[in-house]
Amino acid sequence: MTQRKGIILAGGTGSRLWPITQGVSKQLMPVYDKPMIYYPLSVLMLAGIREIAVITTDEDQAQFQRLLGDGSQWGIALDWIVQPKPEGLAQAYILAEDFLSGAPSAMVLGDNIFFGHGLPAKMAQADSRSGGTVFGYRVSDPERYGVVDFAPDGTVREIIEKPAKPPSNYAVTGLYFLDETAPERARAVRPSPRGELEIADLLESYRRDGKLNVEAMGRGYAWLDTGTHGSLLDAGNFVRTLQDRQGTQVGCPEEIAFERGWLSPDGLRARADVYAKTGYGAYLRGLLRE
Ligand code: TTP
Repeated sequence: MTQRKGIILAGGTGSRLWPITQGVSKQLMPVYDKPMIYYPLSVLMLAGIREIAVITTDEDQAQFQRLLGDGSQWGIALDWIVQPKPEGLAQAYILAEDFLSGAPSAMVLGDNIFFGHGLPAKMAQADSRSGGTVFGYRVSDPERYGVVDFAPDGTVREIIEKPAKPPSNYAVTGLYFLDETAPERARAVRPSPRGELEIADLLESYRRDGKLNVEAMGRGYAWLDTGTHGSLLDAGNFVRTLQDRQGTQVGCPEEIAFERGWLSPDGLRARADVYAKTGYGAYLRGLLRE
């Protein structure tokens, strides 16, 4: 199989965070001590993915580039794609078609944070499956998300976007492992009443063909989104609590790259020097000693 490529979808309007996000992209906002996009980026790196396209609005692209560069500091390669208007999650696959050039993909939403023991193994499993794999996560407020309607035998009947009456408590998280047919399928999706190419419709195309796997992400995982002021603060507190208690970092691209051998000890040392004045730099130095 062709090597799976990554997509981080980091455009959007962020209107629920106005006025803050009238001046800066949501995905550049801090989640405790790191820019939000570090967390989804780390997820793709944990999936072993080294070729990643970052999709942003036109006006925000330069700021993301200033922050992330070309990715070589982490032994990965970043590509840059503009989404002119926020016309839906499924549009990402059309915009990324050239970048993917026939490869399967893992797409993560730029405002989603995943944490849990065994996440790399779960993603490795998704990587090995054919068709598409998404993750269902139990939430208390499913009406805010795409929701899985399960048939009595446990198979997926439908995925419904923001249902007024949710058929289950299982939301589809913002991490999608889709095969190489995703761009072609996305082109067949028609805009919804709210004018977006809905990811639910793209997933429906896989489901219709019997090619959609929905994997549960159990209670041992945290899936947080950061789209409102409250959930952004909650996510920051979550990261702070874990990091302070354990003395480890959540969403540290240098650590993942180093562990995977994409970054040499010298490369890691150079990164630690960049952050010499911060606890982040001290943490990177600590990795060298371990
Ligand atoms: P949303 O949170 O649904 O939308 P948003 O970020 O524009 O925020 P708001 O609803 O407050 O206006 O988007 C989820 C993620 O997907 C987020 O990281 C932005 C991204 N996104 C795009 O990049 N392009 C799009 O067309 C859409 C709809 C979302």
